[in-house]
Amino acid sequence: MNDTFLRACRGEQTEYTPVWIMRQAGRYLPQYLEVRARGKGTFLDLCKDPDRCAEVTLQPVDIFGMDAAILFSDILIPMEAMGLTLEFHEGRGPVFPEPIKNKSDVERLRIPDPEESMPFVLETIRLLRRGLQVPLIGFSGAPFTLATYLIEGGSSKIFLKTKQMMFQAPELYHSLLEKITRCTSLYLAAQARAGAQALQIFDSWAGVLAPCDYERFALPYVQEIIRDLRQQTDVPIIYFANNGATLIPHTTTSGADVLGLDWRIPIDEAIARIGGSHAVQGNLDPLALFLPPEELKKRIQELLVMAGEARGHIFNLGHGVVPQTDPDQVRLTVDTVHEFSQYT
Ligand code: CP3
Repeated sequence: MNDTFLRACRGEQTEYTPVWIMRQAGRYLPQYLEVRARGKGTFLDLCKDPDRCAEVTLQPVDIFGMDAAILFSDILIPMEAMGLTLEFHEGRGPVFPEPIKNKSDVERLRIPDPEESMPFVLETIRLLRRGLQVPLIGFSGAPFTLATYLIEGGSSKIFLKTKQMMFQAPELYHSLLEKITRCTSLYLAAQARAGAQALQIFDSWAGVLAPCDYERFALPYVQEIIRDLRQQTDVPIIYFANNGATLIPHTTTSGADVLGLDWRIPIDEAIARIGGSHAVQGNLDPLALFLPPEELKKRIQELLVMAGEARGHIFNLGHGVVPQTDPDQVRLTVDTVHEFSQYT
């Protein structure tokens, strides 16, 4: 069992820097597209098929030698389990045709028992743990990020409806976020019980908030989830607030062991601001994988040197790998991290 990733999460010394990449099982991989096509169904059908989920979870580990596997699923699965209709439209991403607008919409939401309403996720974890040679990461969305999808009805540019609810109906907003928080705590705890060895909370849209609003309308719910999880499990917890450089004084109080970093801040500067309290994960620009190979290699080596002072460093991209990426560049990234970090 290769536990390098888990030791880095805990801030322990490792022989080399472990690496995995966000969205590592996805559309840039021909092998993923093949599995996706084989079932004939939609992306959601794939998420509910444990055999195929386990298969695509393993692909990047087998193909590139990643140091961790991330469960194949989606952050919006538990939102569907709360009782909302969820659709994925080609080219447009996720859509909730009946977004949350008022008190009765919030009251109608269920707090699902994960074993009953999302058994396929837990079954995928159990299947994977039987043979996996690297740690398995479970995950969820953060309550604020999840709420934006429910309130906007899908992706958004300026998050007008979300901020209108925050500012004009704070009690309604709070009641929605409390329900999402409860659902997420139960969901993550169930993943850990099923065998997930680390948990990552994705706050993809945290960076659209002013720090004062982040502190009031997003962070407390993340803290509540992590406090709750600490009573039930000792697996490392990673918190990724995308576009979150200006939020660092706040994210260090989330309770997580590891802070995920996007590429908009130099990693040494982030490490200096965070101090020695947390391991860090990141933070190569996903589009740096379009650099010529020699320049990509140099960029990675520089990043590894800059991260030398971290309490623990897990190499990752600053956000998900994009579908147009050449898999050979992913291979070069993983190999460069493994080889070069032995000497830094
Ligand atoms: O990282 C992994 O390899 C594990 C699987 C994973 C997926 N989604 C698979 C997926 C994870 C961890 C996610 C998380 C997720 N989903 C987030 C947080 C991470 C981030 O990117 O900020 C968010 C915001 C979502 C919601 C979501 N799901 C969107 C916006 C989209 C559309 C994206 C697009 O580029 O079209 C999805 C669909 C989705 N989730 C795909 C995959 C592989 C593509 C579906 C397909 O095969 O057509």
